[in-house]
Amino acid sequence: MSTQQTVLLVGGTGRTGGRVLQQLLGRGISVRAIVRSRGKLPSDVVGNPNLTVIEAILLSLRDEELQQHLYGCDAVISCLGHVLSLKGIYGSPRDLVTRAAARLCRGVEALQPPTPVKFILMSSVSVNRPGGLDTRRGAFERIFLWVLRGLLPPAKDNQRAANFLLEKVGPNNTFVQWVAVRPDTLLQGDVSEYTPHEGLVNSLFAPGSTNMANVAHFMCELVTNPETWAVWKGKLPVVVNVSSKSA
Ligand SMILES: NC(=O)c1ccc[n+]([C@@H]2O[C@H](COP(=O)([O-])OP(=O)(O)OC[C@H]3O[C@@H](n4cnc5c(N)ncnc54)[C@H](OP(=O)(O)O)[C@@H]3O)[C@@H](O)[C@H]2O)c1
Repeated sequence: MSTQQTVLLVGGTGRTGGRVLQQLLGRGISVRAIVRSRGKLPSDVVGNPNLTVIEAILLSLRDEELQQHLYGCDAVISCLGHVLSLKGIYGSPRDLVTRAAARLCRGVEALQPPTPVKFILMSSVSVNRPGGLDTRRGAFERIFLWVLRGLLPPAKDNQRAANFLLEKVGPNNTFVQWVAVRPDTLLQGDVSEYTPHEGLVNSLFAPGSTNMANVAHFMCELVTNPETWAVWKGKLPVVVNVSSKSA
């Protein structure tokens, strides 16, 4: 019996998603990537025998088609993000990240896998942990974020996606377990020393930094290392570079 893991990845043509794709393949993991355009994939992954590319609009796939792609996957990673243009920020779908998370999780649930599938979401430090647990967020910053979510659909979308996992999928789901990874300001650069934290490390007004390669590395660890998964499942870890200055 094969022990090779299989991951379904969405957002693999993005800055972070492309790095996740490269690192998953580098670890010998089999990847199914749903992308809008295969031409935007990192050039070094093209032709990799462990990569299956599905050229499709994720939110337009029929339920049965999506379930076919999800069937047999050990993990699902979403690195989707709104394109930084007027159309990407204010155009449709404003709830891209939330709808994608909901479709993917509901698709897994419909398949009723024998062991829970890991769902890993690329989130953001603008996303709150519930219950005021992010104690570093002062009153002024909370008001600022509240206004930001009213003005910028992607900010609202990222919070709603995390809320979906917290409230609708929940901590004891039989079929889906999840982690929402919250990086600070994204930087280029190689994998370096980084630390996942339970709560916020920096303020939005004095941000830290996170190499996209480190986000990818942490996501790969979540997929492959059961101990890492056991520590972080059902949580919203904040991932920051060790070299990043604390506020
Ligand atoms: N910028 C930061 O400092 C920062 C910090 C923390 C968290 N984040 C969050 O991290 C996430 C990813 O960031 P990133 O910079 O890696 O993203 P990115 O490079 O902009 O990539 C976005 C990905 O989403 C896909 N996408 C966009 N709209 C889509 C749609 N309507 N349907 C299907 N796919 C769609 C893109 O596909 P195409 O290639 O086809 O366009 C691309 O693969 C974002 O949600 C962002 O909020 C950002």
